[in-house]
Amino acid sequence: MSYAEVFARSITDPDGFWRDAAEAVNWDRTPGKVLDADAAPFYRWFTGGELNTCYNALDRHVAAGRGAQAALVYDSPVTGTARTYTYAELLAEVARFAGVLEGLGAGAGDRVVIYMPMVPEAVIAMLACARIGAVHSVVFGGFAPRELAVRVDDARPKVVVSASCGIEGSRVVEYKPMLDSALEMAEHAPAHCVILQRPQAVATMVRGRDVDWAEATAAAAPVGCVPVAATDPLYILYTSGTTGRPKGVVRDNGGHAVALLWSMRNVYDVSPGEVFWAASDVGWVVGHSYIVYGPLLLGATTVLYEGKPVGTPDAGAFWRVIADHRVTALFTAPTAFRAIRKEDPDAGLLAKYDVSCLRTLFLAGERLDPDTYHWATEKLGVPVVDHWWQTETGWPVAANLRGLEPMPIKPGSPTVPVPGYDVRVLDPDGELCPPGQEGAICVRLPLPPGTLPTLWRDDERFLASYLSAYPGHYLSGDGGHVDEDGYLYVMGRTDDVINVAGHRLSTGSMEAVLAGHAAVAECAVIGVADELKGQVPRGLVVLKSGVRADPETLRQELVRLVRDEVGAVASFKHVDIVPALPKTRSGKILRKTMRGIADGDEEPVPSTIEDASVLDALRPVLRPRA
Ligand code: COA
Ligand code: AMP
Repeated sequence: MSYAEVFARSITDPDGFWRDAAEAVNWDRTPGKVLDADAAPFYRWFTGGELNTCYNALDRHVAAGRGAQAALVYDSPVTGTARTYTYAELLAEVARFAGVLEGLGAGAGDRVVIYMPMVPEAVIAMLACARIGAVHSVVFGGFAPRELAVRVDDARPKVVVSASCGIEGSRVVEYKPMLDSALEMAEHAPAHCVILQRPQAVATMVRGRDVDWAEATAAAAPVGCVPVAATDPLYILYTSGTTGRPKGVVRDNGGHAVALLWSMRNVYDVSPGEVFWAASDVGWVVGHSYIVYGPLLLGATTVLYEGKPVGTPDAGAFWRVIADHRVTALFTAPTAFRAIRKEDPDAGLLAKYDVSCLRTLFLAGERLDPDTYHWATEKLGVPVVDHWWQTETGWPVAANLRGLEPMPIKPGSPTVPVPGYDVRVLDPDGELCPPGQEGAICVRLPLPPGTLPTLWRDDERFLASYLSAYPGHYLSGDGGHVDEDGYLYVMGRTDDVINVAGHRLSTGSMEAVLAGHAAVAECAVIGVADELKGQVPRGLVVLKSGVRADPETLRQELVRLVRDEVGAVASFKHVDIVPALPKTRSGKILRKTMRGIADGDEEPVPSTIEDASVLDALRPVLRPRA
């Protein structure tokens, strides 16, 4: 069937379409309903069905006689380790760790927070939660204690799983002191933590609370899979919203398994036994969907890479991993390729490796700039596929469907809506934009399986954030347009979310930190264009009257504060002290106007501005520096 036929069926007959797709999953109880619209606009998928996601990701492959196949390849240049886990081995580890969690009192529906570096134990912990029906919430290791504390308080976990340290290039980042400090701040700290001791840093354990991973696992008995409802949560993943308070995106079990399996074959064109590598982090949605669940549900081999595209040890690192593990498809963010290109513009290091196994390069997480697209295409000689999605959706919304009907690639566009997603670009009145006209990228409800059913314990915020702007539609938060051929172009966020090296961050959370400094009267943080990272945050602060601080010392203090409170991952390195911030007459700070000026655009002065001279005075500060 052609893309057009498949897409049309997914929209006109979602029941039939997803019932067929659901046959790829092993159900303990067949779903009664496919699309359940009883509580619309809260839609549910596969109501009445029961399954276990871990069973589908591990046990069934072993039961089918594929236990000796590689499930997970851990490649860690930062520790000089490479280790392959077969499906049988991974299953044994997961079943035992599930026993550890159960022994600590975690059961179906309980939350488990995982704050770990890119080690196999992070994947084992996630799957162990799925095995017993517990709900994991993985927090990216680059977040600071306060951000971790906020997530712990929202998720209220029974157990936290962490490690003594992560390794960032050649730097050992101790996780345990950050965990301890987060749990001191948190109001809902759990009774137990399981800590993986890594040889690079040995963590001090808290007696009575902390349990050693190795000891606990050695003592635990393996446990089996607990069937859960298709609509039960598998995980919560916090993501940045417009305010400083992160949103707990909920993922269910049934829709998630069905959608990911469909995407592995139809979007990524991967078959069981092939090697899929998502060079991301388990703390992000890409890691959840395409390091852990997607490849394993399919019975493929996944690569877990603890390293960077450059510096571990050089810009040939990605080519080495592809060659060593015979990677069929690589998925990463454009920023990784920009980093490689900066160090090795002619890709000279590529000649050292046999990367003929690579069939496709998939890029997402931020806009793919045409320069990077052309460079990657020319150097690798394989299709370079831009695709667009979000933490909320969990799997691609727009893509070139390599397993269904590959289409001509247009640089700058992630191609067409993926079956299941009725993508509409709407103008401010909710009317469909004609081709070429920019508007808000929305998806007509219902969203397909695998997308967020709601926000964790916050239905109201789910409605307010996503469903209220355009009734009957999901608001993506991205702006863009479609062209005459139906290709989608995503131009960037229309809210205060920024994208730094493919990492989604909230300027609101950085503003909250700056505003908390005793010398600061008001502040703004904007995302400005950056050659390597796509965007980086920039702060502007106005001091309280009478403050007499040395500007350089204060700037350094503010940079340090954001690093300590939000995390190193924010890459907040630049803050200016200014006399005033430009505002509208109603008092709204003109962030978009400042961002435009900082990016070197011809930014019109809004007619609503209160005092244009304030903006004029800022222009020299904001303008890009050579
Ligand atoms: N634990 C602790 N600290 C972390 C961390 C983690 N898991 N991940 C990042 N950090 C720290 C880094 O060490 C760095 O600290 P520094 O300011 O002291 O140097 C800071 O957070 C910023 O990290 P990062 O964004 O990774 O920047 P970088 O300068 O170290 O590397 C790239 C730049 C482009 C090489 C890197 O961003 C990259 O590989 N990006 C790939 C994209 C990606 O994985 N995107 C995820 C979505 S697909
Ligand atoms: P995250 O939720 O962290 O995956 O970030 C999602 C956001 O990243 C989207 O809302 C977009 O702003 C941006 N994004 C992801 N993929 C693309 C892409 N292919 N092109 C443009 N922007 C993208």
